[in-house]
Amino acid sequence: MDAETKHIWTLRALNAGLTGKTVRYDRDELAMLRQEICGIQFMNPLGLAAGFDKYARAVPAYERIGLGFAELGSVTPLPQPGNPRPRMHKLWADQAMINHMGLNNPGYTEFFKSIENARPQLKNLPIIVNLAKGKDQTDPAADYVNGLKTCAGRADMVVLNLSCPNVTNFKNLQDPDQATPILEAIATARHKNDITEPVFVKIGPDLKDDHLQTLITLCMQTCINGIVATNLTHHRPANLKTKNLPEHGGLSGPPLRDQSTQVIGKIYQMSNGRLPVIGVGGISNAQDAYDKIRAGASLLELYTAIAYKGFEVVPEIVVGLANLLKNDSFTHISAAIGADHKAVERLAS
Ligand SMILES: Cc1cc2nc3c(=O)[nH]c(=O)nc-3n(C[C@H](O)[C@H](O)[C@H](O)COP(=O)(O)O)c2cc1C
Repeated sequence: MDAETKHIWTLRALNAGLTGKTVRYDRDELAMLRQEICGIQFMNPLGLAAGFDKYARAVPAYERIGLGFAELGSVTPLPQPGNPRPRMHKLWADQAMINHMGLNNPGYTEFFKSIENARPQLKNLPIIVNLAKGKDQTDPAADYVNGLKTCAGRADMVVLNLSCPNVTNFKNLQDPDQATPILEAIATARHKNDITEPVFVKIGPDLKDDHLQTLITLCMQTCINGIVATNLTHHRPANLKTKNLPEHGGLSGPPLRDQSTQVIGKIYQMSNGRLPVIGVGGISNAQDAYDKIRAGASLLELYTAIAYKGFEVVPEIVVGLANLLKNDSFTHISAAIGADHKAVERLAS
C-alpha cells in the first residue's frame, strides 16, 4: 500500500473509532499546559498540522486522541485534484517524508460542511482553517479575502498559507512584494466586515533573514495575530540517510527540526516576543516540543511523527512536555516560551 493510500485508510479508521486510543490527561498536566492565545482557550499546546486532514474527515477524533487543537486544510475555494500520484514518499531511514501533493482538497462547500457536522461533537477543540489560493487564481488576495469571509463564524482561527512549496508560483507569495497586497487586503476586509477571528500567516523555513525580518514587520503592521513556522523545506540536508530521494517536493520530519526551531527563535527575537508562534517542523518527541517552546513557540503542531509513531505519540509528547517543564521548575508553560532568549539576555546584562 502506498503512503497516501495508507494515510486515507488511517483517517477513515480514526473517524470510525477503530484506531487512536482515548486519552485523559491528569489535572496537574492540564493546569500547566492550558493557555489562552488570541482569546482562544487551548487545553494543551499540541495540535494537528495542516495537510494531515485536508478534507476535514476526522475532526471529532482529534480531541479524543489528546490533541489540543486541529489545523485543517489547506483549502481553496474550488475543489482541486492536486499533482499526479505517487506524491507522498516516506524516507524510512530518516523517519521523514517528501511530498508534492499540490494542494488537493475538496473546496469550501464540502470542507465547511464537514466542520459544521463535527461541531456539535466537540467540547474544547479549537478549529484552525488553513487557506490557500486556487491553482489558477492570478489574484491571490481575492482568494484569501474570500476564504477569510467564509471562515468568519465557522473557524476559531484562520491561517493564510503563503508558503506551499508544491504549487508553481506559490512559495513566492511569502516574498514581501507579493505578501504586501495580500496582507493589506486582509486587513481591510477584517476591518470592513468586522471579522474577529485571529489570523496567522504560515511561512516556510527557507527565507533569508532580511526577507523574514521584512515579512515579520509587515505582519505586525497589518495586524496579523501570529505566525505558523514552518512549512516544508526545499533543502535536502547532506546527512539524509535515505538514498534515491524524489527530486521534487518538500521535506518534513526530523531533518527539518532544527531549521524550523531556528526560524521560530528568529521570529521571537524580530518581533520582541509580540507575535505568538505556532511551532511546527520535525517534532517527534517531548524534547523537540520543549526546544520549540523555549525558542519562542506558544503552540505546537505535528504531522510526520504521527505517520511513523502512530497517534500514541500525542500523549507521549504532551505528558513529556509537562515533565520537562517541571524539571526546569516552570509552573506554567507561559513562563518557558522564549526562555532561551531570556536566559541569553540575563547573561548579557
Ligand atoms: C503530506 C503532507 C501534506 C501537507 N500539506 C500541507 C498543506 O496542505 N498546507 C500546509 O500549510 N502545510 C502542509 N503540510 C506541511 C505541514 O503542515 C508541516 O508544516 C510540515 O509537515 C512540518 O511538520 P512535520 O515535520 O511535523 O511534518 C503538509 C505536510 C505533509 C507531510
